[in-house]
Amino acid sequence: MCYNVLDRHVKEGKLGEKVAYYWEGNSPDHHMTITYRQLLSHVCRCANVLKQMGVKRGDRVSIYLPMIPELIVTMLACARIGAVHSIVFAGFSSESLCERIMDAQSSVLVTAGKLLQHQTYAICLDVTCCCTRSCKMKLRDVWWDEVMRDSPDECEPEWMDAEDPLFILYTSGSTGKPKGVVHTVAGYLLYTSLTFRYVFDHHPDDVYWCTADIGWITGHSYITYGPLANGATSVLFEGLPVHPHVGRFWEIIEKYKVTKFYTAPTAIRLLMKYGQEPLRKYDLSSLRILGTVGEPINPEAWRWYHEVVGQGRCPVVDTFWQTETHLTSNPDFIFQTFPFFGVEPAILNEHGEELEGVTEGYLVFRKPWPGIMRTIYKNQELFENTYFRKFPGFYVTGDGCRRDKDGYYWITGRIDDMLNVSGHLMSTAEVEAALMLHQSVSEAAVVSRPHKVKGECLYCFVTLKDRKNSDQSAVFIFSVREKIGPIATPDFIQNAPALPKTRSGKIMRRILRQIARNEKDLGDLSTLADPKVVEVLFNQRSEAA
Ligand code: WTA
Repeated sequence: MCYNVLDRHVKEGKLGEKVAYYWEGNSPDHHMTITYRQLLSHVCRCANVLKQMGVKRGDRVSIYLPMIPELIVTMLACARIGAVHSIVFAGFSSESLCERIMDAQSSVLVTAGKLLQHQTYAICLDVTCCCTRSCKMKLRDVWWDEVMRDSPDECEPEWMDAEDPLFILYTSGSTGKPKGVVHTVAGYLLYTSLTFRYVFDHHPDDVYWCTADIGWITGHSYITYGPLANGATSVLFEGLPVHPHVGRFWEIIEKYKVTKFYTAPTAIRLLMKYGQEPLRKYDLSSLRILGTVGEPINPEAWRWYHEVVGQGRCPVVDTFWQTETHLTSNPDFIFQTFPFFGVEPAILNEHGEELEGVTEGYLVFRKPWPGIMRTIYKNQELFENTYFRKFPGFYVTGDGCRRDKDGYYWITGRIDDMLNVSGHLMSTAEVEAALMLHQSVSEAAVVSRPHKVKGECLYCFVTLKDRKNSDQSAVFIFSVREKIGPIATPDFIQNAPALPKTRSGKIMRRILRQIARNEKDLGDLSTLADPKVVEVLFNQRSEAA
């Protein structure tokens, strides 16, 4: 992998002096240019450092870094020596980080001091040492700058098998425990490289910018591997779209003459709120193709993206895919999708029967393609159960889908117990488990509620052990942020004296969803053990977190 994304361009392709990344820091005063040759040299140094620390082919390395060049250097250094990287999004809490380090049994963590709290450092060290025999957490023992300075900048790549693992990336599981999705070297290289090239119509003089975080699959594929495999020049942005002003995205597009721009509907909806004024100050005429990913895009956001950002002349590519599957879709002028080469979708009904023509149902895939995940790390059984058990012979995406008369696929959103908040996928079980950790909570149920900017947000019903306890919303919100991270901050917390349950004790989430959305027409309530509960919950709806 590393040879293909770096050495090949520098040594064979004469792209050594080409810019690989324009790094733009959170503050506009911080920026830097990195050529392919410089990147290769940093990667080799880092690879030697990792080797020096005892990391060998097949070992796992956890990475918990903000969007700085060191993040890309470390992931490629892992690839170079055949170590498996496990990147944890920096917006996750330190507890989430610990959980992932333990599951992957990483021997090294590469991190930036400002992200780690004192306490966590202790926990990580402790737990990891107990769990793995030979693990040495070097954490504060070595400083990046010091070890990099003394490290040689040549390092022969480790030659890997096509099916060797390249990385683990955790995604939410319906049980609440994250699943370590495993991708392998050759299939992932092929699909990131091809989809990047064809979906974004890559040309050598493009300046490409994907605003995702590398802590998510979109960043892995479309900031690091896909663009580098094509010898592309990308923008790497550490900051926020509204800092220090709401025109920051547009300013960066003008500054680097970005030609291809890839972002998420949640960012578009956020920026739409400020109107057209912030865009008018900047020259966006370099833009040629716009992309969107992460969640279904609503018509209003799509139109604004197309007409205001793209000035009506740039195709919008809506790319549907998952951490697990590597695929993207075709450029088109409307937010609908055709499958990429090698991907064969089908739509099934509840009974697993295939539906033809204009229809709606479960989106599944008929056969695998090289870029699809290989397993869940150390849990092949969970892999089979999660993706292949419901409809034997098909991969189940967990998404709903509609096919129109022209054969386009329209993704309608998750139809399992997953939530998509600002493009971040999480499971209701995961948030419920975090709430239940609080000593005063006896039961919790979490549902989604539509949100203008985030797409969906978290509405939590909480039953307290002691009913007389006063409102503790702020405390619960804090504990979820501590446990999972700020991305899972609940928007609404409602005290629920009881939850609506069937006679067999199953929580009726459909009803809770309707209460959260204030939809009065509840339909058939005859299966409820105690229908009065619903009325009480309706009367006490929460309108603010
Ligand atoms: C959703 C992100 C509609 C979907 C790349 C999927 C989308 C989940 C789109 C995967 C899109 C992603 N239109 N929905 N263009 N892209 N999704 O694993 O529900 O973080 O199953 O991968 O995001 O999220 P993940």
